[in-house]
Amino acid sequence: MIQCPRGTRDFLPDEMEKRRFYEGRLRSVAGNFGFREIETPIFEDAELFILRSGPNVLKELYAFKDKGGRDIALRPEMTAPAIRMFVNGMANEPKPIKIFYFGQCFRYERPQSGRYREFFQFGAELIGSYTPETDAEVISMAAAMIKSFGLKNYKIRIGHIGVLRQRIAEIGVPKENTAEVLQKLDKKLYEEARPLLEGMGVAAEDIDSLFELTETVGGTEVLSKVPGEAGDYLREVVSFLSAYGVDDVEIDLGVVRGLDYYTGMVFEAEAPALGAEKQICGGGSYTLSELFGGEKVFSTGFAVGFDRILLAAEKEGQAYEPKGIDAYVLSVTDDMRLKSAEIVASLRSAGISADIDIMGRKMAKALKYASAARAKYAVIVGAKEMETGSVTLRDMSSGEQKLVKAEDLPSEIAGNRF
Ligand code: HAM
Repeated sequence: MIQCPRGTRDFLPDEMEKRRFYEGRLRSVAGNFGFREIETPIFEDAELFILRSGPNVLKELYAFKDKGGRDIALRPEMTAPAIRMFVNGMANEPKPIKIFYFGQCFRYERPQSGRYREFFQFGAELIGSYTPETDAEVISMAAAMIKSFGLKNYKIRIGHIGVLRQRIAEIGVPKENTAEVLQKLDKKLYEEARPLLEGMGVAAEDIDSLFELTETVGGTEVLSKVPGEAGDYLREVVSFLSAYGVDDVEIDLGVVRGLDYYTGMVFEAEAPALGAEKQICGGGSYTLSELFGGEKVFSTGFAVGFDRILLAAEKEGQAYEPKGIDAYVLSVTDDMRLKSAEIVASLRSAGISADIDIMGRKMAKALKYASAARAKYAVIVGAKEMETGSVTLRDMSSGEQKLVKAEDLPSEIAGNRF
């Protein structure tokens, strides 16, 4: 039996309905914040991701040559494509530009619960603005999205990659090694980071102070430890967040992010219930447009890991009940099949979701199928009732039945008049 490739999944109808339902919630939050949807190709020139995504993404890239010999990659994320799109066709639009996207991304990772090779991101980019309000706007939308899932147990941590980059430069790490060091700090691999830094000639006390900086965690009071303007900047971000009603955030200078393009504020949200793969959302401010041939433009964005936030909601005990159809039409005898077809057509054109027995089943079996299809009503078409233009309408949950004129069926069903 051929299975779907490792790290990918099929979504069966019940699961798919649930995914669309929650996707709808994210979409409505994005609209509520004034963001508009875009779509970009699923594959791009590999260069788009090679230029700045950093070593983590590079080693996980699904890249290949197409039949024309071009280097192509499946998108591992959607920020670089969104900014390429902005440079290609939106650069002259009034700023700031607020866009969002939903779609699959591909990373050649070791699959486990919450980590897939094909996964879905719901993300947003606020392009062309560099103010504390910009960052607060983006973080508060991320928070609203998490809340829209009804999640209770989650944490939003805000850091500043500029502070870390500056400290790393000050202690003498060569520029070309910065990404490697940040990668170790991101994963909190201090035992691996130490010999790496020592090998670059960094003094032991500087290594300690760098590690200490990444362990700076707490409320705004810890910002006194943040050197330079970054501390004041983050304080303002937090004030705006508070004005937006988002108070449940924590300062954490250990937020490094796995991608290389961030320049300023960075943030992550985690749902501890997920265990190892608990990061449900990540983002920050960055510049990428100048790499893709445009002017340098500051942006802030984030992406929610759609699969993970769904898992988190599930772990918190949230269940989604698939809706099912409104009506299932079945014939008591074979001679009623054409009549049933007319009835199902009239229901459908009245906007009622309706299905029909097309297998000529006996009534008991057809009713069983109707209940598996979660039909709210069964419409039973019998010759005797038809003599007066009526059918039997059966409420599938109570089993209650009544005679209804065929022409009244749409209003009976839509009006739920049992
Ligand atoms: P990221 O942190 O690499 O950021 O990915 C965003 C989210 O996607 C993660 O927080 C996680 O929930 C989810 N995710 C990542 N890899 C996997 C995987 N293998 N399986 C399941 N879920 C996964 C970005 O991609 C940035 N583009 C976010 C951003 C937008 N920054 C600025 N704008």
